[in-house]
Amino acid sequence: MARKNPMETIGHSREAKVSTPTPRLEIRNLRRRFGDRDVVDDVSLTIMPGHVTCLLGPSGCGKSTTLRMIAGVEMQDSGEIYVDGDLVCDTVFRIPPERRHIGLMFQDFALFPHMSVADNVAFGLKGSKDEKRTRVEELLRKVGLYRAIDEFPHVLSGGEQQRIALVRALAPRPRIMLMDEPFSGLDNRLRDDIRDETLSVLKEEDTAVLLVTHEPEEAMRMADEIALMRDGRIVQQGAPYNIYNAPLDKAAVSFFSDINAIRGKSQGALTDTPFGHFLTPGVADGAEVDIVVRPQHLKLDFDRAGKGPLPTMTDGTAARGVVERARFMGNESLVEFRMDYDGSIMKAIVPNVFLPSVGTPLWLTIRRDRCFVFPAKD
Ligand SMILES: Nc1ncnc2c1ncn2[C@@H]1O[C@H](COP(=O)(O)OP(=O)(O)O)[C@@H](O)[C@H]1O
Ligand SMILES: [Mg+2]
Repeated sequence: MARKNPMETIGHSREAKVSTPTPRLEIRNLRRRFGDRDVVDDVSLTIMPGHVTCLLGPSGCGKSTTLRMIAGVEMQDSGEIYVDGDLVCDTVFRIPPERRHIGLMFQDFALFPHMSVADNVAFGLKGSKDEKRTRVEELLRKVGLYRAIDEFPHVLSGGEQQRIALVRALAPRPRIMLMDEPFSGLDNRLRDDIRDETLSVLKEEDTAVLLVTHEPEEAMRMADEIALMRDGRIVQQGAPYNIYNAPLDKAAVSFFSDINAIRGKSQGALTDTPFGHFLTPGVADGAEVDIVVRPQHLKLDFDRAGKGPLPTMTDGTAARGVVERARFMGNESLVEFRMDYDGSIMKAIVPNVFLPSVGTPLWLTIRRDRCFVFPAKD
């Protein structure tokens, strides 16, 4: 047993190589300035094959510009782009868009109206007629549209056209798919199905996907990783679960949902509020903090002759509010309270079986494990 098996050493070094695979797409320190504004400001990202990264941010934050630089239709002022470890573009060297092996899909994907579905999908393909036909058939089967192979685009529904556009982009086996708000032209119910189907086709093709969207639900549904973008910069990056549950700041919370924020002053690593004490470790004495909680994480309790529930470790102290507005939204209700302690408004989301009438007094508590504490900024 003491002698080392030489094969083990070999096995080890191989493993070390496998554990650091080359990203399919890597962008380093990309910048683009329009006028006096850094529209894309030092953006870096890596995406592995078969992975979907969503660039998520409000309109105008620089998402499309980033995508256009990767596609090669916009030139960066500085920074580099690598595909499978090879330099594709820096400020001196530049491979033209058509040689980057990148598939593109945008909201206003236009199919060629004068070509059949088969010809549309085969458009970017090289090879013999048979090879092209095989690939076209394979892809159309994957999205359940083989029956439409000889149709013209105008006889297909919006959702079907969308799927054809997807397989047209995927047909030449692009190493990277860039998708810019590709689902925003579709109506809601259709969109969920198409998103799921698109995702499974993309995963099967093992391409790296960079999907741009301003919709948090879309990013959460599609992404392995979300890159949250704001004013030209990526401010936070991670799995959807982490972005949602460990947000960087108040703005990152409010990008995903409505929020309630309670301002307080930290003293001895504790902040006293109408909802009881909150732990605020690492905050200097006298510094202001915001305690932020999403509407779905408020708990409601009935008023019993002016009294609420007793304080607990997990939920702190209850504060009373009076229902100002209650809206039924199908799966849930949104209830707005005017709080007794300072007249401010708090929003709670509750299951739809509960729709209190305006003027009802109720007691609110904040789950300690579901609130966020940030230094007050404004
Ligand atoms: N060619 C251009 N010339 C000048 N300004 C531009 C150009 N392209 C984009 N912009 C500006 O850059 C900002 C970011 O645009 P864009 O990348 O399209 O944002 P997003 O896709 O996140 O909505 C916007 O304010 C837009 O007006
Ligand atoms: Mg855009």
